[in-house]
Amino acid sequence: MLRVSRRLRLLGVYLLTAALAVPATLAWAGGEATPKTPATTTTVKKPAVKKPVVRKPTAQQKFMIEGRKLYKEYCGKCHALKVANSAGFGGPTTEPGPSFNDVRVNYRRSINAVVESIGGHETISKKMTFKEIEDVSRYTAIVTKKNPLPGTVAYG
Ligand code: HEC
Repeated sequence: MLRVSRRLRLLGVYLLTAALAVPATLAWAGGEATPKTPATTTTVKKPAVKKPVVRKPTAQQKFMIEGRKLYKEYCGKCHALKVANSAGFGGPTTEPGPSFNDVRVNYRRSINAVVESIGGHETISKKMTFKEIEDVSRYTAIVTKKNPLPGTVAYG
């Protein structure tokens, strides 16, 4: 009896060792697979670093920057507009135009005013390309969109 049980115990120990060895081998095999994971981790890192720093201005933002420049150069002298940092005092020989801080100046209104050369616009319309007139008119329309007053000048 004692002998048998001893053998059984030995067998038990043997089986136990074997049973432990299997997961150990698996773990080891798994450990060997780990070097591959960093490669995936690097790919994951890229979106994590992502673009907030590298972000370029959108086409719309670029357009607004350009529009503001054009406004300051050609319109701001006579038409006050806070967002374009323009006081609109007029020139030495020119009357200031209406302030655009409260007036909704839609696209067509700007184009007409500048192209039809009312109010001294002939001083600038000749210096500007038609694209510049279009761009600055679109810019002005966007930034004055929420203003309370309609335009003051009537066009025939
Ligand atoms: C030399 C001064 C001067 C400059 C520069 C000037 N304007 Fe004017 N603008 C005027 C005056 C003066 C009037 C008012 C004309 C009137 O009452 O008949 C006017 C009127 C207007 C109106 C009509 C406003 C309304 O209330 O209906 C628009 C729109 C306009 N200008 C757009 C522009 C734009 C856009 C630019 C730049 C590209 C520009 N102006 C540059 C003097 C100027």
